[in-house]
Amino acid sequence: MTVKLGFIGVGGRSVHEMRDLIKIPEAELTGFCDIDESRCTAAVDTLNGVLPLGRNPIQPGIFTDHRAMLDSVELDAVYISLPTFAHGQIDHDVIAAGKAVMIEKPIAIELSLAKEIGAHITETGIVNAVGYQMRYAPSVGQTRALLEGVPIGMVIAVRWGGLPGTPWWRVQEQSGGMLIEQHTHSIDLVRYFVGEPDTIYAAGDTVLLNDVPNLNILDVNAMTVRFKNRAVGMIGNSPAAHAGVPPNVTNVLHILAKDITVTAGFNSTTVLRPGQEAETITSDQDSNLSMNQAFVAAVANNTQEGILSPYDDALRSFAFTYAGQKSAELRREVRITDDLEVVPQ
Ligand SMILES: NC(=O)c1ccc[n+]([C@@H]2O[C@H](COP(=O)([O-])OP(=O)(O)OC[C@H]3O[C@@H](n4cnc5c(N)ncnc54)[C@H](O)[C@@H]3O)[C@@H](O)[C@H]2O)c1
Repeated sequence: MTVKLGFIGVGGRSVHEMRDLIKIPEAELTGFCDIDESRCTAAVDTLNGVLPLGRNPIQPGIFTDHRAMLDSVELDAVYISLPTFAHGQIDHDVIAAGKAVMIEKPIAIELSLAKEIGAHITETGIVNAVGYQMRYAPSVGQTRALLEGVPIGMVIAVRWGGLPGTPWWRVQEQSGGMLIEQHTHSIDLVRYFVGEPDTIYAAGDTVLLNDVPNLNILDVNAMTVRFKNRAVGMIGNSPAAHAGVPPNVTNVLHILAKDITVTAGFNSTTVLRPGQEAETITSDQDSNLSMNQAFVAAVANNTQEGILSPYDDALRSFAFTYAGQKSAELRREVRITDDLEVVPQ
């Protein structure tokens, strides 16, 4: 079965997804929409230059208004890969049109909006996924399985990196800040491995990137977390590591569990057990391609089966990062309630 796909926002991320999708025979790239039409035409040229052998050139309809795309081409699913601030009406329009959605992380800037979009998805029952591709790495799945039922005491998750060039990332009102934008993958995996957060206290500030024009995001954020299962966590984020990052610091989770110590990267996990040699679990599978294959298959079969990051789960990862941002802004501890309110303590 052919799965007809539309794309809203044809920037760097969409093109990355499209490069995967042209390798999936069932996926037809049917409609491209971007307020900057040149990004659509550039994407068509790029993709037609890298087509796998035997794949016909892509000829999507090109649009600058998402409603025009939804009204004029037949689509089974839509990839929404927008700057964080642009989520809202577009997501609602796609959901109301009954299309399956692959929505990029972060799903919004404000928790209230993400919850509204989540409720709309639940109400319509459309197939839905969020772009947390790390969950599809076999080593991540195996790490989760080995921690299942084991008491976890502590997790450390640090993400130090550089400041992305895209201008909207450095504006708090447009990206939501780097904890929400960049660190969301690690924090999603913290939830996947450790469980749900209960209370968070974060200290954050802008101390290293004050000389960057038009920047008002926190450039350091250090969170302490108490999880509902009594584990505790230390989570640190900075986009100011221009001098580089020491090995085994960034994008790696360290988990201390009962008789197991785990260092989990996105494609490799090292497991220590008392009296045993260190065990390494690796995966060389492309997790982003696996995510796209799972999504296309789910849309073809009209099922959530195979989707490891549905919107309602991604909403919880978003609430976690949002709580870290809010705690730093308020300089107060916050609690995440069961119905995903972030309440100052
Ligand atoms: N899962 C991942 O690993 C991953 C990797 C990179 C980016 N992302 C996420 O993908 C999203 C997009 O990032 P990007 O790097 O592609 O950004 P980008 O700025 O390169 O592209 C965004 C595109 O959206 C377009 N756009 C803005 N408003 C629009 C509107 N109203 N209608 C249609 N198009 C509109 C812009 O013109 C631009 O071309 C971000 O949320 C980012 O965090 C995820």
